[in-house]
Amino acid sequence: MLQKISNLMNRQTKEDGHIPLENIPQHVAIIMDGNGRWAKQRGLPRVAGHREGMKSVREVTRAADELGVKVLTLYAFSTENWKRPKDEVDYLMKLPQDYINLELEELIEKNVQIRLIGTEEGLPKHTLEALKIAREKTQENTGLILNFALNYGSRAEIVQSVKDIATKVKTGELEVKDIDESLVQTHLLTNGLTDPDLLIRTKEIRLSNFMLWQLAYTELYFSDVYWPEFSRDHFLKAILEYQRRVRRYGSV
Ligand code: IPE
Ligand code: IPE
Ligand code: MG
Repeated sequence: MLQKISNLMNRQTKEDGHIPLENIPQHVAIIMDGNGRWAKQRGLPRVAGHREGMKSVREVTRAADELGVKVLTLYAFSTENWKRPKDEVDYLMKLPQDYINLELEELIEKNVQIRLIGTEEGLPKHTLEALKIAREKTQENTGLILNFALNYGSRAEIVQSVKDIATKVKTGELEVKDIDESLVQTHLLTNGLTDPDLLIRTKEIRLSNFMLWQLAYTELYFSDVYWPEFSRDHFLKAILEYQRRVRRYGSV
């Protein structure tokens, strides 16, 4: 581990210096976008971009682990992505299985814990089964939490939390006066995780229904690089930029 950190510290990023190891964001969330356009630019089918994007997932996960990031949340499929052509959706639903076959061994070796946020309803059996295995095999791990947002939509998440809280009020388990920000937070899918410190999105400058509650005071970083081209150096550059930001939370 120490060797890894010193390798990283000695690593020149394309920007300029080294990554200071204090002030590493605890939770980094990424909206991985631009896979389709990356493929189209090369005359390839869109799904080739999704496959290539797995390499960026590997590089970024390795870098996050080495830096000591605690949680890496990756937006892999939104509740709105069902609107895509069936062939593409089918392909995306097979990717978790392929990803796990390729990566699980290394993730276990690195003590990574795989988690999932999103709605299980609507996901094919084979996708759920692959993810279940990955979660079970890594649930005792204590290192980086690698949190996939799959069939995730923030508005649906908030609606569900409102329903759950309303039900508890109705049954007398809670009173209206008990409802505050931290209670709402515990009813979200991210319960137990801190809010993202840094959000990275490739290619577009919008949130696309991602973590609307949790991003209230997150630092936002937009990169014009297609996700399949987003490398370790791009990730380190984002971390350096984060380290330069002054977070005021409404104060002076
Ligand atoms: C992001 O890439 C991956 C998913 C949303 C599943 P896109 O597939 O959205 O790629 P573009 O934005 O069409 O280029
Ligand atoms: C957001 O990307 C969802 C994921 C990265 C999984 P989209 O490509 O679906 O977002 P829009 O449609 O450009 O807003
Ligand atoms: Mg897109």
